[in-house]
Amino acid sequence: MSPSAIQTVPTGTNNWWKEATIYQVYPASFKDSNGDGWGDIPGLIEKVPYLHSLGVDVVWLSPMYESPMHDMGYDVSDYEKVLPAYGTVADVENLVEECHKYGMRLILDLVINHTSDQHQWFQESRSSRDNPKRDWYFWRPPRYDDEGNRMPPTNYRGYFAGSTWTWDEHTQEYYLHLYAKEQPDLNWDHPDARKAIYDSAVRFWLDRGVDGFRVDTVNKYSKYTDFPDAPITDPKSYIQPAIGMWCNGPRIHEFLREMYDEALAPYGDVVTVGELANTPDPGHVLQYVGASAQQLSMVFHLDIGHIGMGESLEDKYILQPWRLTEMKSIVTKWQTFVEGTDGWTTAFCENHDNGRSVSRFASDAPEFRERSAKMLALMMVTMTGTLFLYQGQEIGMINAPRDWSIEEYKDIEGLGYHREAQNQVARGVDPNRQERIMDGLRTLARDHARLPMQWDDTPQAGFSEGIPWMRTHDLYPEINVRRQEGDPDSVLSFWKTMLHLRKEYRELFIHGAFDLLDYENQQTFCFVKSRGESRALVVLNFTETEQCFQAKWATGMRLLVSNYPESGVASERLGPYEGRIYVFDNCTE
Ligand code: GLC
Ligand code: CA
Repeated sequence: MSPSAIQTVPTGTNNWWKEATIYQVYPASFKDSNGDGWGDIPGLIEKVPYLHSLGVDVVWLSPMYESPMHDMGYDVSDYEKVLPAYGTVADVENLVEECHKYGMRLILDLVINHTSDQHQWFQESRSSRDNPKRDWYFWRPPRYDDEGNRMPPTNYRGYFAGSTWTWDEHTQEYYLHLYAKEQPDLNWDHPDARKAIYDSAVRFWLDRGVDGFRVDTVNKYSKYTDFPDAPITDPKSYIQPAIGMWCNGPRIHEFLREMYDEALAPYGDVVTVGELANTPDPGHVLQYVGASAQQLSMVFHLDIGHIGMGESLEDKYILQPWRLTEMKSIVTKWQTFVEGTDGWTTAFCENHDNGRSVSRFASDAPEFRERSAKMLALMMVTMTGTLFLYQGQEIGMINAPRDWSIEEYKDIEGLGYHREAQNQVARGVDPNRQERIMDGLRTLARDHARLPMQWDDTPQAGFSEGIPWMRTHDLYPEINVRRQEGDPDSVLSFWKTMLHLRKEYRELFIHGAFDLLDYENQQTFCFVKSRGESRALVVLNFTETEQCFQAKWATGMRLLVSNYPESGVASERLGPYEGRIYVFDNCTE
């Protein structure tokens, strides 16, 4: 292979999903059709034409299954039913049909690391120690400390604070749950459990015409079933950070390959995008996403969402200052790791588990927020891989106002951290931890992404005619779809244009090689995309003051687009949050 051939991302078999723009819908907060305060599938169906007009190719619907909603549907009590507040199986079938009618596709969220504790499988499993489904979950006897106190079988800290083990009085054993105690982990080592998952969670929906899945917590299905203790990093506590104890376990690739062969491949070119945590080694990531590995189409690398978070799981919500070089390193790493391989990558900066990108990475101050949203759009649409957009990102929705109190926050994870800090304050361990956590939540909480979608300036932002399950953003009269649809300079109009440009320049933007410029610069993020003779230069100012970039980079190129109407090729100055894309002429292919 010549060096220039190595420098390009393969189009491979040109799977439909590579060039797709995928839009994530969080059903509770998208559109309420019947005034009960909860978004629903009929509401989403109403908005399919809107998504089509935006330039979306695929809708990713976050969990809409039957669920007691401890973790907003990521605790599924029946894979084959729909939460009544969201609709019915027939509504999902109608949604598939509506998407297909517009030439779009629909993917669902596959939540198969755990079920709800209300799932029939777990109900049976917990009913007695010799129930045939006992080993579909992980049950272990207690451990005792020196004073004879009963202790969880290992020292693992779970994602939502507290131990990963909960005691079951009835059968006198602990069960494992990496997340809430209402989300017991399935035992994938049990072949019958795997078969049941494939049938009930995967095939059931592919049979109803869905086009693929976002695969939740994709590298946690294979556990180290001898359950060794996690290394002690905090001697003051029994529970310890333990993520390494369950990510990328010994049989994970075998399981994913089996699911691919048995449940996915028979349905043709089904797309899967896995949520991949804690896997920093690109070589290892390729084992998941290499086409020849036949496991997943692609994965999300969560690093971009971790910017500004504390290092350890325990300190996740302790806000950290961050530098632009950190973002550059992350983007460069996951943009380039597939070059010269048969793998594929993703581009995203928002989802339902993170604060809004404008508020976190740029500025949500009134004078800068629209520019910021457009600048981030310029960054995203020029990235290699499949592009993901989160609901509301296209209108530049921002974080909840900072003066909202903890009562407005609903997420089990954030509230778990807040409560834990409250206990630490009460015990005198760390007197101002609660204030620090609250400060972190104001920027980082998962809640920010879950506020009702802002459709117009009528009460409740046109999301609902009732009282929404989460408070509507105070600024909805200013930031909403209707207002932006009528304005050619709006963030929404900008995204529409950008998504079209992304398709027009697909070889360069979606498949091109990524090269970072001027790494050390903490104010501007500049990079080149290239493929064959074609090149694009992207220059982005991440500050609220004027910055320069090196004019020589743009020599011989023409300005394709900018988020400032007055930008000129001659100017090597970038205004606050200005972004531009330059290209070589004739480089569309
Ligand atoms: C994933 C989801 C998150 C959920 C967790 C447990 O990380 O994105 O929202 O809480 O899985 O299912
Ligand atoms: Ca509703």
